[in-house]
Amino acid sequence: MVYADYTKKETRFIEGIMKKHGPKLDGPMRVFEPACGSGRLLESLAARGHSVHGFDLNKHQVAFAKNRLKVKGLQGRVWRDRLQDFSVPKAARYDIAHCFVSTFKYIDTEAGAVSSLRRMAAALRPDGLLLLGLHLTDYKNSPPDHERWIGRKPGIRVVSDTWSAPANRKSRTEAMRTRMRITEKGETRLEETLWDFRTYSPNEVRALLRRVPSLELVVCHDFHYDLKSTRALDLEYTDVIIVLRRR
Ligand SMILES: C[S@@+](CC[C@H](N)C(=O)[O-])C[C@H]1O[C@@H](n2cnc3c(N)ncnc32)[C@H](O)[C@@H]1O
Repeated sequence: MVYADYTKKETRFIEGIMKKHGPKLDGPMRVFEPACGSGRLLESLAARGHSVHGFDLNKHQVAFAKNRLKVKGLQGRVWRDRLQDFSVPKAARYDIAHCFVSTFKYIDTEAGAVSSLRRMAAALRPDGLLLLGLHLTDYKNSPPDHERWIGRKPGIRVVSDTWSAPANRKSRTEAMRTRMRITEKGETRLEETLWDFRTYSPNEVRALLRRVPSLELVVCHDFHYDLKSTRALDLEYTDVIIVLRRR
């Protein structure tokens, strides 16, 4: 619910970036979402006729995502797996894969990140695209941060506050905390999650990409998902969508 406002924009962006930078397709796209969460993008892309596959580590998210496709009468494949060492169904080859909302930063080691990117690349057809949405770190200027997202549905309101602590350059971590205030049927409950994200400066992204030569950097955009405005991979703007192509 809290990311729902972005879903339409992201869906159109995925379609648009494919037209602009991907191989020419005669029909719908075969889309892959590593760490698909509740399946909001699986649903919106499937509803537009694309074939969707995705996995998540959290079994509740997997069950939710499967059910949301089923109740809408949509096709898709969702399974439980880990970003670091996932596998895809036999013979699956995707036109495009995407991993937004800094989800890639849950992978807590460089070896895990390399393995994950290699697997994502191998799951793509030649010239297929991989979109990574990441908040980059400026180690020289990383004050504590706070973001608020609000989601509403009839009878439910969710206010989600996320705090990040200053990044630690040595350990490549930033401590994160999300508190969700969920009001439903007149009652409010709080849910809190604490975790560490692995941090990436632009140079750390480049160093990671050098270890996965099967992927080439095509272009960067930002979290406004505007196909007409591109960004450099630098610290001018730290919320980037990195567009990679399988060689
Ligand atoms: C911020 S949510 C994003 C979900 C979805 N991609 C979206 O844009 O709505 C992050 C998801 O990553 C999953 N996750 C975290 N660490 C993971 C890992 N190592 N392997 C697979 N999934 C993981 C969580 O369970 C959660 O569903």
